[in-house]
Amino acid sequence: MRIPIIAGNWKMNKTVSEARELVSEFIPLVKEMNKAEIVLCPPSSALLPVAALLEGTAIKLGAQNMHWESGGAYTGELAPAMVSEFANFVILGHSERRAYFGETDETVNKKVKAAQSEGIMPIICVGESLEENKADKTSEVVTRQIKEGLKDVNTNLVIAYEPIWAIGTGLAATADGANSTIKIIRSVLAELFGKEEAEKIRILYGGSVKGSNAVEYFSQSDIDGALVGGASLKADAFTEIVLAAQN
Ligand code: PGA
Repeated sequence: MRIPIIAGNWKMNKTVSEARELVSEFIPLVKEMNKAEIVLCPPSSALLPVAALLEGTAIKLGAQNMHWESGGAYTGELAPAMVSEFANFVILGHSERRAYFGETDETVNKKVKAAQSEGIMPIICVGESLEENKADKTSEVVTRQIKEGLKDVNTNLVIAYEPIWAIGTGLAATADGANSTIKIIRSVLAELFGKEEAEKIRILYGGSVKGSNAVEYFSQSDIDGALVGGASLKADAFTEIVLAAQN
């Protein structure tokens, strides 16, 4: 049995005081909900204050990015050991990082290795653009991203399938369609790690997930939770998604 993960990617939102307000409102709402692992991924500036609020709860903390080098002259970056001081998870290779900050399958691979050697669980994002989707290239794209991004790594990882056209657009993928692509991803993982190991890896769906569509995703055979952007910025909206993962 794969324990579902509901991860909230706040992206570049929430000051420390806004983060405190959101987390303080959220914690009591999900107190009794223990069927899914909950992960909050605030911006770097809020990692420490959110970590302090989460102490003593079952909610985990994640970073949104990190560098692969252990330290040195990399202005503006966080090293794996700095992230692991607060966070148990790190989102890697999000499509926004790939599109705006030049991340490639190769740099994602370096980051996955660095996260694993630091004991941080990477959430590796893959997904096709609208053009690639229209050209029937989804399978080819995610296969390449998985094979290149996961070269020489172990199975301590989580995958998030996020079709780029579904992120922040309200145009969520159909549950069925997302499940088919996730099955393809799982078969690539089976090639890399063997079938038994691939069955244990959690694969999330991301892209316009909200309370009203979450149940449909979570009832699919291969979808093990969600990576949530917009709907993770409000305590009640994010709670609805956590609630949908309780059955
Ligand atoms: P969204 O973002 O839920 O706002 O579509 C998802 C993501 O980018 O992880």
